[in-house]
Amino acid sequence: MEKFGHRERFAGLAIYDTKDKLVAATPQLGSDLATPPLFVVHAMNSDEEGGTFLPLGGKERYLHVLPLHREERVAGALVIFYESAFIEERISLIWKNNFFRFLINALIISLTTLLLIRWSVTGPIDRMAQWLKNLRTKKENAPFSLPPGGILAPLTREVEHMAQSISAARASAEEEARLRREGESTWTAERLKEHIRNLLQDRPLFVISNREPYSHVLKGKKVEWLVPASGLVTALEPVLKACGGTWIAHGSGDADREVVDSRDKIRVPPEEPQYLLKRVWLTKEEETGYYYGFANEGLWPLCHITHTRPSFRFGDWEYYYAVNRKFAEATLQEIEGISEPLILIQDYHFALLPRMIKDARPDSRVALFWHIPWPNPESFSICPWQRELLHGMLGADLIGFHIQFHCNNFLETVDRALESRIDWEHFLVNRDGHTTLVKPFPISIAYPALPTRSTLARSPSPDKEGIFKELGIRGKYLGVGVDRIDYTKGITERFRAIERFLEKYPPYQGLFTFVELGAPSRTHIKAYHDLMGEVEGEVDRINWRFQTKEWKPIIFLKKHHSHEEIQPFYEAADLCLVTSLHDGMNLVAKEFVGAKEEEKGVLILSQFTGASRELKDALVVNPYDLEQVAEAIRQALEMSPEEQRARLQRMRETLKERNIYRWAADLTSGLAQIRLGKEA
Ligand code: F6P
Repeated sequence: MEKFGHRERFAGLAIYDTKDKLVAATPQLGSDLATPPLFVVHAMNSDEEGGTFLPLGGKERYLHVLPLHREERVAGALVIFYESAFIEERISLIWKNNFFRFLINALIISLTTLLLIRWSVTGPIDRMAQWLKNLRTKKENAPFSLPPGGILAPLTREVEHMAQSISAARASAEEEARLRREGESTWTAERLKEHIRNLLQDRPLFVISNREPYSHVLKGKKVEWLVPASGLVTALEPVLKACGGTWIAHGSGDADREVVDSRDKIRVPPEEPQYLLKRVWLTKEEETGYYYGFANEGLWPLCHITHTRPSFRFGDWEYYYAVNRKFAEATLQEIEGISEPLILIQDYHFALLPRMIKDARPDSRVALFWHIPWPNPESFSICPWQRELLHGMLGADLIGFHIQFHCNNFLETVDRALESRIDWEHFLVNRDGHTTLVKPFPISIAYPALPTRSTLARSPSPDKEGIFKELGIRGKYLGVGVDRIDYTKGITERFRAIERFLEKYPPYQGLFTFVELGAPSRTHIKAYHDLMGEVEGEVDRINWRFQTKEWKPIIFLKKHHSHEEIQPFYEAADLCLVTSLHDGMNLVAKEFVGAKEEEKGVLILSQFTGASRELKDALVVNPYDLEQVAEAIRQALEMSPEEQRARLQRMRETLKERNIYRWAADLTSGLAQIRLGKEA
């Protein structure tokens, strides 16, 4: 007691026995504690330690009671008295301290939040607003970007898309206006839109093809989309983008079903929907028999003179018929309730479709465009179902080929195989009272290319040096080839011609590199599978013969390349080699010329392509003649810049005049004329 008695803030200590007698107490407690307070008595009775506030000696005290024991029984209690004013003081101090701490924390949190908001919300919004303003007032052209992953990322993406659309629309309007000023001869997306609107009176346009313009594929667990490597898609997409409508095609992507609605439709392009894509599903057996079998092992080699023997199997024919029927049903469903619908059927996959549609809907206007060559009647006659195919095709009101020569071959084939009346002056076939007009419509590309969202978003293309660097080689001259790996494209002939060129002109060794951007195609067919091996073998052999530590003559990039990936190669290349052994048109040739804004570069073009009839300023070659192609490569690399420019200018002029909008306008006008009874 003496020891604790003088502790600061203690009011004192007291000990009581169980007879409520004060045994000892510190002096400052005073005399009124001779008997224990009731709380202490209860603590001793219940043998429980505890504390309470009590008014003692005129002051508020806190007392803490500890029962004391002797031989395990309660013998008394120790009572500790505190000044309660001190406790209150401490409590108020704690409150005060906490209040300040809380205040400081709140201040820090508020400041940090403000800074964060400024940095990640209002700052970017301000910048975005300023950028939009600049865009509106035409002070800005550069793409807008914010650090990825911020909380505004989704909004940024949308604003970015919207702004790109606005820029594209503005640029396109300006270009349209410019072209209009320059004269009415140029067909533009806008002009085609007007033309189709007048023609269709707001009825939708229908396009049918095997290949779809967009396919959705699984990349890990994510669904991505891609544009297949196809001349047909390159050509027709701008038409659908301009006119809207419905494109019916085989849904071949492994994630295609995941993204369509209940009617198997999806609006595309995925980033900026402008028309409808309706997908038709095929079983594996149907795809094998109709696409790989009859269309690509039968009709494809039949129509291309490349000395690859066609295979005709009855089972494949049955599938071909069944799939044509399936597409007919899908189309009939789509055109239900629409009077005189305009239907553009594409290619050799659907020779039977025109008749199937016309039989069910005689009021429909049907055109069939054949994207590949048509052989002479002797060649075609080896097909066991030639009569059925021709009969199916002649269901169309209009049949188009790329060139007159193929029209003539077709008419001669009909003349020999079917009973019909042919008007050779007007290229009309009359069979069973129905007339079909047969006419050439050279297909093309969207040129001049109007800026689109994806072209606007594209970062500047790497130049030739950048490309060489990315490829990990040194070089001075760049050649490019872009193909589906197909035996009609003359790819191995092209490589052998490059080999011959390097052999004949050794100073170019170490300087000239040819890059082949080759998309694997139809690989389940043996001829294509074998070709891939042959192409790779030739690349290896030629590289092994000439390559050095820092240089290779041929680089084969075997994959599907997007338009955006191909563009830099077109732009940077000194020459482009198109060496098809036989090709309906070949749009790579036109794309290369279209990409040459700087008017530098040379196109070497096979005489067996439809394109060679129009692009006369290319160096036209026979791809089987390796000496001639090797010579053309040398001539291209040594051609003066003036000559390159002059040739490209003339070819670009041709492209401008005969672009894809004109193709679509001519085709649809042809159909309309038939409707009015003014055939041809
Ligand atoms: O241009 C001819 C063509 O057969 C098109 O019909 C087709 O879209 C393209 O080549 C690509 O072939 P595929 O569709 O068989 O990959």
